[in-house]
Amino acid sequence: MENIEVLFSAEDIEIRLKSLAQEIVAAKLDNLLVVSILKGSFMFAADLIRAIQLEGGASSEMEFLFLSSYKGGTRSTGTVEILRDIDTDVKGRNVLIIDDILESGRTLHFAKTLMEERKAEAVHICVLLDKPVPRAKEVALSFTGFECPDVFVIGYGMDYAHKYRDLPYVGVVKG
Ligand code: IMP
Ligand code: MG
Repeated sequence: MENIEVLFSAEDIEIRLKSLAQEIVAAKLDNLLVVSILKGSFMFAADLIRAIQLEGGASSEMEFLFLSSYKGGTRSTGTVEILRDIDTDVKGRNVLIIDDILESGRTLHFAKTLMEERKAEAVHICVLLDKPVPRAKEVALSFTGFECPDVFVIGYGMDYAHKYRDLPYVGVVKG
């Protein structure tokens, strides 16, 4: 097992999830459809919708949009592909897209445009981590967990070559 430096511990994440859920409940997004971008956001999305319930939020529906831009490496290929689409009609709905990281912006720009083209009433975006790097596509975030340093992170749903998704914290592999 490589040496992993913890960036955001399980406890850091738990605390932030609670306040993030409070922000989302306060926004009173009715008729909400939550769209989790796979694979990276599965753990964050699951914990976040539970936190929203614990904070007294209204029930939301859940969808999964399986997108791909990284082909197993650490660099974006620049194109985003739908590997598996959602099957719910988003027309007239408040959509909350959940993803793990905003980096170049390509993935979230693609997902947001897709929901808008399908006539969602409004599209909101929530990410666990925002990497402050130059964007290829501008993306406005409604809710952000943490600012993340410009390093390749793993854990809490995020992988490096299919490893580390199951870690309960966000970390950086050190050699
Ligand atoms: P973007 O399209 O460049 O904004 O990249 C966003 C996607 O790339 C995210 O959904 C992640 O799945 C993936 N990604 C970006 N940075 C990292 C990282 O540091 N670790 C793991 N995945 C990452
Ligand atoms: Mg992703």
